[in-house]
Amino acid sequence: MNQPLMGGVAPLNAPAYIKQQKLINWVAEIAALTKPDRIVWCDGSQQEYDRLCAEMVAAGTMKKLNQDKRPNSYLACSDPSDVARVEDRTFICSATKEQAGPTNNWMDPAEMRATLHPLFDGCMSGRTMYVVPFSMGPLGSPIAHIGVELSDSPYVAVNMRTMTRMGKAVYDVLGTDGEFVPCVHTVGAPLAAGQKDVAWPCNPTKYIVHYPETREIWSFGSGYGGNALLGKKCFALRIASNMGFQDAKDGHPGWLAEHMLILGVESPEGKKHYVAAAFPSACGKTNFAMLIPPASFKGWKITTIGDDIAWIKPGADGKLYAINPEAGYFGVAPGTNEKTNYNCMASLRENTIFTNVALTDDGDVWWEGLSKPAPQHLIDWQGKDWTPESTSKAAHPNARFTVPATQNPVIDPAWDDPAGVPISAFIFGGRRSTTVPLVTEARNWVEGVYMAATMGSETTAAAAGQMGVVRRDPFAMLPFIGYNMSDYFQHWLNLGEKVGKIDGATLPKIFCVNWFRTDEQGHFVWPGFGDNMRVLKWMLERIEGEAGGVENIFGTTPRFGDLKWDGIPFSPEEFETITSIDKDAWREELKLHDELFTKLAYHLPQELIAVKAMLEQRLA
Ligand code: GTP
Ligand code: SPV
Ligand code: MN
Repeated sequence: MNQPLMGGVAPLNAPAYIKQQKLINWVAEIAALTKPDRIVWCDGSQQEYDRLCAEMVAAGTMKKLNQDKRPNSYLACSDPSDVARVEDRTFICSATKEQAGPTNNWMDPAEMRATLHPLFDGCMSGRTMYVVPFSMGPLGSPIAHIGVELSDSPYVAVNMRTMTRMGKAVYDVLGTDGEFVPCVHTVGAPLAAGQKDVAWPCNPTKYIVHYPETREIWSFGSGYGGNALLGKKCFALRIASNMGFQDAKDGHPGWLAEHMLILGVESPEGKKHYVAAAFPSACGKTNFAMLIPPASFKGWKITTIGDDIAWIKPGADGKLYAINPEAGYFGVAPGTNEKTNYNCMASLRENTIFTNVALTDDGDVWWEGLSKPAPQHLIDWQGKDWTPESTSKAAHPNARFTVPATQNPVIDPAWDDPAGVPISAFIFGGRRSTTVPLVTEARNWVEGVYMAATMGSETTAAAAGQMGVVRRDPFAMLPFIGYNMSDYFQHWLNLGEKVGKIDGATLPKIFCVNWFRTDEQGHFVWPGFGDNMRVLKWMLERIEGEAGGVENIFGTTPRFGDLKWDGIPFSPEEFETITSIDKDAWREELKLHDELFTKLAYHLPQELIAVKAMLEQRLA
């Protein structure tokens, strides 16, 4: 079809249904730079998906799983050097360093362009460039935005089809002059004539680069997850958070792009609320988004809008409306099983791409925590024989699945509603083995913003680097804010203030949770998973003005008797161990808030400094 021309410039062959010359010119310009052998314009069809998967099976990138056990599903195993997001190689190249702030890597945009140019020059030679048009959010929704990703990875093309609204219909929304975010991605492994490819091409040099002023994304060297599926963290969080900030002008409150799941919760009496919850990577968003209430919670229903990202825009009625910009889940596999997340397991029955899990002898998948005992023999994620005696993990700790949201048995009827759903509460939660109690309700918006801003969490395998160390992860957004973090705090405060003034507005309540306190043996004390419903129910009753609680230094918390305990033997003593406030530990904790605030001194909102002073007084 698309034969390379003499001289190595692939013919463009843009389909006639694309009406935007600017887009076609951009594709031509990137093709001239990256020099692919072929260009494929993705239409998003099932046939195209099946063809690309078959090509990857032939190339050794993916294995087709047992069609009877796991229909239309595949296993991809990445290079061991390319298994997670690379935060230290991620850059926000705004015009000035202050605009990126002290928590982002920054390089002058001109300097970065000069650095990247030679890397991208010819980077796709010997490969195919896929043109991947996608919408973040329902096609044509006033909250949605469009992107086009040019990638030399067929793995990216098929994953983008599941994770976004990808395909031909996007061009209808774009028309002759609609706006799109240009995203350029390469695995950074050009092939010389006759050179044999490897199963997972990538490059030890990696750059994940954002230019917020021109709203461009350039990604080099990785084929994995958020490094490569550019609609997700790069666009839907880093670029979009900046867009929402820039939109706050001339009295407009702007909007929010957040690392949040969105769920619907309905009581037996039929009262329904939507809440959005921000937990850091691999801290339980997917689980919480589709949890099944304990058997004793008869008549309570949880439904999913999204499991990772929320775009939230204020409505004229003073409510905050949220959409899930994604169309699929790219979730953590290890730890997922029928008990911890039944709905997730049900979602994964077919049409799923698994990455870096283990392969069973009958052509299915396995990972740590899926079943006990482990199978007698597996092929691990690195392609080696594995038995229960092996000392290495069968699946990589950041192994993931890519699955269409529509396969979730508890998907919310409004998940695809272009108008979004109104949010009644925000929940912020970190992974903390000590110090932070099970749940606290902030007294007001400003104190809630303070809690979210000073949140700490133990690091997980979702990012490259050291695991299990506590770091400040404000709003679970540390690696995802596309501008200065102090300005981001101010944006939250301003938005609350502006929306709060709208006639009839009630701002969402803000809660802080921690499912992860441990005992002396290092075991989690709180049962978590479905039992998180007990905390969610209390929050709902607080929203409705029904539940009791006591005020402490930080806000309002439930007493033992304020939660429903039917169905589990959880003692008041155990409750005490996960809700107690150790003043000495909190004095140490506040020193860490201090450290954060010192780092963020430039533009740090005065209101937050005032909250800290108030807390210090209460602690004294
Ligand atoms: P990203 O996709 O990386 O943004 O993360 P996520 O927040 O969606 O992560 P996910 O829900 O997949 O969390 C994965 C890890 O959290 C697994 O190790 C789970 O076992 C663990 N987890 C989830 N919910 C709970 C809980 O309520 N209690 C405890 N102790 N662990 C939990
Ligand atoms: C996360 O790390 O928060 C993820 C996975 O959701 S990735 O898309 O790889 O960033
Ligand atoms: Mn995430």
